[in-house]
Amino acid sequence: MTSYKELGFVNTRQMFKKTMAGKFAVGAYNFNNMEQLQAIIVACVETQSPVILQVSKGARSYANQTLLKYLGQGAVEMMKELAKSEGLKEIPMALHLDHGDTFQLCESCVDSGFSSVMIDGSHHSFEDNIALTKKVVEYAHKFDVTVEGELGVLAGIEEHVVAEKSHYTKPEEVIEFVSKTGVDSLAISIGTSHGANKFKPEQCTKTADGVYVPPELRFDILAEIEKQIPGFPIVLHGSSSVPAEAVRLINSNGGALKDAVGIPEEQIRRATQSAVCKVNIDSDGRLWMTAAIRKHFSDKPADFDPRKYLGPARQALIDMYKHKNEHVLGSAGKV
Ligand code: G3H
Ligand code: 13P
Ligand code: ZN
Repeated sequence: MTSYKELGFVNTRQMFKKTMAGKFAVGAYNFNNMEQLQAIIVACVETQSPVILQVSKGARSYANQTLLKYLGQGAVEMMKELAKSEGLKEIPMALHLDHGDTFQLCESCVDSGFSSVMIDGSHHSFEDNIALTKKVVEYAHKFDVTVEGELGVLAGIEEHVVAEKSHYTKPEEVIEFVSKTGVDSLAISIGTSHGANKFKPEQCTKTADGVYVPPELRFDILAEIEKQIPGFPIVLHGSSSVPAEAVRLINSNGGALKDAVGIPEEQIRRATQSAVCKVNIDSDGRLWMTAAIRKHFSDKPADFDPRKYLGPARQALIDMYKHKNEHVLGSAGKV
């Protein structure tokens, strides 16, 4: 058993108290490898933002769970060293399991130093979701690990998150879910979805210059949920904006991304003014990383040293996370 406290992580409880009072959200950024992790830490130390380092089930098996544990341990050390060398404050960091789908997976993460876990029972019936989430909460809380549950289903196809259609969260269910499970935060479905194709072109309007504008998120449902559980931390998954410039760079350097549409950043900014405390972003990082690598190989096709193309990819990620913290989530300077 490794406690997250020994590793230097914090759980999300204190973080969310601050976000709620300060009307901003913490970035929950996914990583699968060293360069992504370095980029998140560098960006968040430099903007002085609290951060949630997010690991999916797929990331855990891709990176190897034992190696990942040491990477996680290194994360806190790296953050401290960087903060010291730049004369900046240390930042609060949580290590979080994204979309845990079984009790066993959540238990294993709690036991190996995660400070927060998500149990995603949203594909089960309401009753089964409550039972599974409650079981995870009972275990995690013994170790002061915070738990995120989910009500409503997000559309999108990811390695371990598969749903063809989204189902909005029903505001009338949230009080019962939160009180019966004891969760610390709640992920909701109000129109966001996973991946780079969040809306079909026919759901969008098209501007004169060919940009798809998606329908607005269901802020009415968010407001209704807040009314039911005032002051309770809300989580927004599927919050990538799918930047047109990243898509353009990918496609002009040999890529074939079709009809990519994300959530406009001003809508995410608007959501942070509510009880939304945590905003999940993965796809934007994938896109910028791919764009930088594709561009590098177009410009320098003879390169074969991974540092030559992963270095610019890491820098593109740093720039993106700083932008999110400073201009979208409002988490800059909030340590
Ligand atoms: O919501 C899912 C995250 O983007 C993680 O995706 O399961 O492919 O690692 P993944
Ligand atoms: P995006 O695919 O929009 O980045 O969402 C990521 C996410 O919700 C991770 O849980
Ligand atoms: Zn998600």
